[in-house]
Amino acid sequence: MTIKEMSEKIVCPRCQSSFDKHDPAVWSCSSCAYTVPLFQGKPVFSGHPQEQQPQDKIERGADKGTAWRRANWRFIHAIAASLPAGADVLDVGAGRGDFRQIFAHHSYIGLDIYPYPEIDLAVDLIEINPFKERSFDLVVLANVIEHVYEYRKLISRCAFLLKPGGQLLITVPFLLKLHQEPVDYHRYTHYALFQLAEENQLSVARFEVYTNPFALLDEGIADVWENVLPLRQRIDHLHTKVKVALIQKLANSMKANQADGVVKPVQENSNPRVLGYMCLFQKDALQ
Ligand SMILES: C[S@@+](CC[C@H](N)C(=O)[O-])C[C@H]1O[C@@H](n2cnc3c(N)ncnc32)[C@H](O)[C@@H]1O
Ligand SMILES: [Zn+2]
Repeated sequence: MTIKEMSEKIVCPRCQSSFDKHDPAVWSCSSCAYTVPLFQGKPVFSGHPQEQQPQDKIERGADKGTAWRRANWRFIHAIAASLPAGADVLDVGAGRGDFRQIFAHHSYIGLDIYPYPEIDLAVDLIEINPFKERSFDLVVLANVIEHVYEYRKLISRCAFLLKPGGQLLITVPFLLKLHQEPVDYHRYTHYALFQLAEENQLSVARFEVYTNPFALLDEGIADVWENVLPLRQRIDHLHTKVKVALIQKLANSMKANQADGVVKPVQENSNPRVLGYMCLFQKDALQ
């Protein structure tokens, strides 16, 4: 995206005018004199929070990363394929840009609090809004809302940014270990997610409940290696190690044909051990 295209979408958070002065180090708004500094060519609207560590891990591709990440990839890919070419997409909390390439045929903007090399602008979207209302056909929140203490504010801002008929895509883990601590605040049930959609006047266009007992088994076994075995006495330790290794071997052979997990409709409540939810909420076409 050229600076001109970017500056048509990214507007002055104070007065909503375009940034019409593009110095290599700073953009400025001639209507209200608001300025935003650039870091490595990207506007940085807010300083990043000190308690949060930047993320190094990159899991990019249909067959990369954990079963949950791969399920996310399939879901996001399917939604992207249903959008017209050139649709306006905003990836909020895009991190290392793992899903950017899925939107190669769309007009994609990735943002994050951190000025990661893979994003287009750095902003805390709860505090500062550098976009006009009704700007995007799709807003993506992939694995973000569990890390946002004030998630209600963030979701309502995302809903505000949707065009009429636009969609909000959320993926969010449920039975997943704590990660990116201490910035891991929430887990949501589908009851909470439906309520969030309703309070933002969004309807549920698609909702997938992702289960994967073998991924949970893997987590359990990893927990035994990391946290249980180190506490054992030496001889007992050796016996337990052999048993756990056997269980792990068995589990690996059983999961071979179930590695992708199972996606269920929410009505089918036969497995309450949900690994995560993948949702598509929609703004009314007349809103
Ligand atoms: C777990 S990462 C997910 C990254 C990416 N969406 C993915 O799934 O690979 C969550 C990201 O949300 C970002 N984030 C959290 N709160 C945010 C906010 N208020 N505005 C913008 N980004 C935010 C974090 O900095 C972090 O990079
Ligand atoms: Zn301005």
